[in-house]
Amino acid sequence: MAVPLRASSPASTVLVCGGAGYIGAHMCKQLAEAGHTPVTFDNLSTGHRWAVKWGPLVEGDLLDEMKLADVFAEYRIATVMHFAARSLVGESVVQPGLYFRNNVTGTLNLLEAMRAANVRSLIFSSTAAVYGIPEYTPLDELHPTRPINPYGWSKLMAEQLIAEYAQAHGLRAACLRYFNAVGADSEGEIGEAHEPETHLVPNIIKAALEPDAEPVTIFGNDYDTPDGTCIRDYVHVEDLCAAHLLAMEYLARHEGGHAFNLGTGSGSSVGEVLAACRALLGGKPQATISSRRPGDPVRLVASAEKARSELGWAPRHTLADAIKHASAWHRAQIEY
Ligand code: UFG
Repeated sequence: MAVPLRASSPASTVLVCGGAGYIGAHMCKQLAEAGHTPVTFDNLSTGHRWAVKWGPLVEGDLLDEMKLADVFAEYRIATVMHFAARSLVGESVVQPGLYFRNNVTGTLNLLEAMRAANVRSLIFSSTAAVYGIPEYTPLDELHPTRPINPYGWSKLMAEQLIAEYAQAHGLRAACLRYFNAVGADSEGEIGEAHEPETHLVPNIIKAALEPDAEPVTIFGNDYDTPDGTCIRDYVHVEDLCAAHLLAMEYLARHEGGHAFNLGTGSGSSVGEVLAACRALLGGKPQATISSRRPGDPVRLVASAEKARSELGWAPRHTLADAIKHASAWHRAQIEY
């Protein structure tokens, strides 16, 4: 078993919207290991059919209300985990409509389908992007929410919809605000496969492992940080998923809507991540410095104290573990 789990919730059917994507697929594995049946609902626009291995796949779109109603009629769903979203900040700036339609209207349709089917437990993938530019760090859940891009706004608007449904319709909901998800399944069964890949750790790994790869690009080394590069809070995907299982148990005991930050509480700079990767990848890859990427906050580090005290969550993996697992996954993809 990848992560020691507390399988204390009774076995149930969990609808995993976006279960064919990076975090959703890891979630399906943990749900199955804990004795639950994950039913994936995914339009496969960014997810992969091959990633759905731990339960049935219903190919469908959150914008298709009939299809959503069908899935609730077909399965006796106890809890919904909602990972299905567009999630690239840069893309959201040039195509805001895509983000509001998928992430906000999609969530509204899901909430309506849940209400109609009387399903009252929702775990929602939110993001540190709801906070915008930090006024202080580490960021706790009381920090003002002032997104600086359509992606962050779409997630904050979805959180607001969820809060209103909790208030009006007795929905129980946990909005989990992820910091930077990294890593892959520690047993090598699933991993990250974005097209195009924009995230730091997979880009470094690809630059190190793929034949004839270009050097990785570092977006700016003139920030006000010790080495001049941006600082992020990298949290292993298995730890993120473990928090969802704990949130499911939490909602069995608590009414209303709740928000939790999920991060390690410790930041690493881009330079430190590169050094950690090089230490594990034979000194590779080469790196080049380019100008800053628009919209990158200098420092995003979570206070996950609330998740620790209320959910009983503690990340178990280090950044080195995440790099090790992600590089094993990428190596296997290249060999395959
Ligand atoms: N970076 C590079 N080179 C790369 C890729 C990234 O230098 O090839 C840098 C970025 O500029 C940033 C850091 O590495 O400083 C992390 O970038 P990522 O793209 O890996 O992650 P982000 O912090 O931009 O994004 C994460 C989530 C988003 C979320 C955002 C909130 O992946 O979903 O945090 O700010 F919206």
